[in-house]
Amino acid sequence: MKKVGFIGWRGMVGSVLMERMKTENDFGPFESYFFTTSQKGLAAPKYKNTHSTLLDAFNLDELKGMDIILTCQGGDYTKEVYQNLRSSGWNGHWIDAASALRMKDNSIIVLDPVNRPLIEQYIDRGGKDFIGGNCTVSLLLIALQGLFRENLVEWISSMTYQAASGAGAKNMIELLGQMNAVGECLNQNPGTDALLLDRKMTSLMHSQDFPKENFGHPLALNVLPWIDVELPSGQSKEEWKAQVEANKILGNASEDIKIDGTCVRVGALRSHSQGLTIKLKKSADIKTVEELIQGANPWVKFVANNKAESLKSLTPAAVSGTMNVAIGRVRKMSMGEDFINAFTVGDQLLWGAAEPLRCVLKMLI
Ligand code: HSE
Repeated sequence: MKKVGFIGWRGMVGSVLMERMKTENDFGPFESYFFTTSQKGLAAPKYKNTHSTLLDAFNLDELKGMDIILTCQGGDYTKEVYQNLRSSGWNGHWIDAASALRMKDNSIIVLDPVNRPLIEQYIDRGGKDFIGGNCTVSLLLIALQGLFRENLVEWISSMTYQAASGAGAKNMIELLGQMNAVGECLNQNPGTDALLLDRKMTSLMHSQDFPKENFGHPLALNVLPWIDVELPSGQSKEEWKAQVEANKILGNASEDIKIDGTCVRVGALRSHSQGLTIKLKKSADIKTVEELIQGANPWVKFVANNKAESLKSLTPAAVSGTMNVAIGRVRKMSMGEDFINAFTVGDQLLWGAAEPLRCVLKMLI
């Protein structure tokens, strides 16, 4: 029976992964070992075939006993441990939610609904490093798989509306704290007219007391048009990832499909949205485009382009906590016959993070 070591299973992505594995009865056909960076020796969670105590996530000898290591601990952990473990001779399978190893030549970015055949080939070739993609990229590819599969996409401009959870659990809680401060301010000013409330809220957002230790800025009542670090190209790193990761996931040798746009943080909790301009390689009628998108995989949910359906089903509120990746607002644009407008929303913790890791673990088992 294979030995699987879990690291970072208590964090946000790790917890979502554990929940999914429990729901799907994944535990059992392998021995689970839970590692910790701070509490070794304490009791491990009780799943089927689980070693009873927590092991040390920095102990190479303990890690070396694993056939598969699955980490949601983050990039700093990967950088600290991965290379030392490989240098010590460990030749097991490494599954990682962090971005640190994503663009290495010998790693694969896993996204089961989109590149399962490539993952299978990679396993057959003896590949060992399976890395989850950036959430925005993975959700975009699941939504548009039907168009990519037909090789119809020339380029995409993607304008994102990314939820607080993408920045981490603390940021999510901070957003709620900011909203709470807004609510309190409203309660303290009953009957105040909208323009005066606006002035009060603006001054609240700029005050020292407004909670913004993690974001550094107000997100409630605001949007933040920069995610991740600055690059010399003028892109944010989040914007740079779209093209490089999407092409790697699709197995394009060069960066055949151009994807670029502005990534923006908004006050949603855990679902990322994206407004898309898609340039097709050749004109296709809108019915064909809709059908290609609709039938591509079991998770893409096509939403008819009308007001009622869009407002009901094409929102973070509708999609959060589900495996669905909704896509709608699909129509031809005024720029020309080969330009398609679309809007897509998906839970960034499920298909955006935990689920691709779960799928590859099952493949390896
Ligand atoms: N980088 C993403 C974000 C999250 O900040 O929303 C994970 O891919």
